Amino acid sequence: MSGFSAEWLALREPVDGASRNPEIAARVGQYFNSRSSLTVVDLGCGTGSNLRALSPSLPQGQRWHLIDGDRDLLAQARQCLADWADRARPSGNGLTLEKDGRRIEVRFECADLTARSLDFGADGADLVTAAALFDLVSREWLERLMAALAGRRVPLYGVLNYDGAARWQPADPLDATVKAAFNRHQRGDKGFGPALGPAAGKTLMQIAARHGYATWSGDSPWRLKKENAPLIAALAAGIASAAGEIEPERGAAFADWAMARAAAKGVTIGHQDVFARA
Ligand SMILES: C[S@@+](CC[C@H](N)C(=O)[O-])C[C@H]1O[C@@H](n2cnc3c(N)ncnc32)[C@H](O)[C@@H]1O
Repeated sequence: MSGFSAEWLALREPVDGASRNPEIAARVGQYFNSRSSLTVVDLGCGTGSNLRALSPSLPQGQRWHLIDGDRDLLAQARQCLADWADRARPSGNGLTLEKDGRRIEVRFECADLTARSLDFGADGADLVTAAALFDLVSREWLERLMAALAGRRVPLYGVLNYDGAARWQPADPLDATVKAAFNRHQRGDKGFGPALGPAAGKTLMQIAARHGYATWSGDSPWRLKKENAPLIAALAAGIASAAGEIEPERGAAFADWAMARAAAKGVTIGHQDVFARA
């Protein structure tokens, strides 16, 4: 168990998909469009939403290597991907999927990314990607990842990196206090050392540029409206609980804030997508 439930990931998947920056996604697609096949490694894959969102912009033959530290989420990924595909059959410990004319070989690996080798190029990766992961990692870990990828000039595509922005409608006097405490929580240790939190996108760009990569970034904000009420309620509760860990003396006020925010008209949560290639 990682603390990220399959229910939470399912709630965010359609919004994540709609929020991805289209220019950055198109750039990734163009980079590979002369090829007939490629191998993609997805770090912190959860239930496989990154594959479902990205595979339509990639060549017809795809091999995906999905890595996560949470065995339960990997089991869910297998099921969700089989349900999503037009056809699915087991192959070894993985799956062979057919979806909209694409053939997608998937294999699953349960591994702790803080302990595993990050030299994915040695395993044949043409692209390393991660969704909603790099804000959890430390600068030191990202330096190690980028150094390993740069050694083999492997491109990196990181989507939905939280950037620290949260704008609620209508505004509430406590919004700024909650956001400040939440953003401090985002910089805490999520297993990789002190997390980059809202600095993830910018830091990724800087480190990649230092390794001679060309980099592009684009905003990918969640723009949640009334119809996203279940996600808004879960988000408000999660933010208040994290903020309460930073400022326990305000825990009750933050919990009241979350109850009220569950009925908010809308909220915009800032994210950044980044593509880096050598
Ligand atoms: C915010 S979720 C994102 C999941 C998925 N990429 C998505 O967008 O739906 C972060 C994922 O990273 C995984 N994770 C966190 N720390 C990890 C670690 N040290 N090793 C491997 N996976 C990790 C979690 O299990 C979780 O699935």
